[in-house]
Amino acid sequence: ATKFALLLILAYLIGSFPTGVLVGKLFYHKDIREYGSHNIGTTNTFRVLGPKAGTLVFLVDFFKGTLATCLPRIFHLGDHHLCLIFGAAAIFGHAFSIFLKFKGGKAVATTAGFLLGYNVQFFGLCACFFIPLLLITSMVSLSSLISVVLIFASSFFFHDSFLSVMSGVLVLLIWWSHRANIKRIAAGNENLVPFGLYYHL
Ligand code: G3P
Repeated sequence: ATKFALLLILAYLIGSFPTGVLVGKLFYHKDIREYGSHNIGTTNTFRVLGPKAGTLVFLVDFFKGTLATCLPRIFHLGDHHLCLIFGAAAIFGHAFSIFLKFKGGKAVATTAGFLLGYNVQFFGLCACFFIPLLLITSMVSLSSLISVVLIFASSFFFHDSFLSVMSGVLVLLIWWSHRANIKRIAAGNENLVPFGLYYHL
């Protein structure tokens, strides 16, 4: 039980690691939270600091989710479903980071990393939702919002009720964290990525 508790705290701390803020401050002398959408995630880093910083933030935030999800396997804690709890701890850490006064990111990249760590096939399916959506809508936010609902719906085909519960929680978290984006989408002034069908309309 002590090992479980310590590793769960570790998973939360891994998720809490504020990649976007650190990359901005260390390499660009900018606090990413003061620019663009004010988010600390991949999309805003690409937008404000460019592709090198964006790629770095994406990779670290993504693999935070994968690493935390794999902790029960690495430390032989047993049941496969524990991976879900550890992934959730990292996603929660990313969204409510102890290093950022319990504020944080919108949980998209860390969720994607969790999916890879938990179930490669399911991750592949989710990528098949997200990438075409991004290429059509040119909006990371809208693609994320629709993808997470499709993730929840498709989780039922995997006959894994724990995964469905976790996906349901992710729908709530991601829709809540994107509430400012939802308002912008509804008003027709959400930020676009410079590619995709909608961008070229
Ligand atoms: O990764 C979060 C994304 O869905 C939206 O980010 O910066 O456009 O609010 P942003």
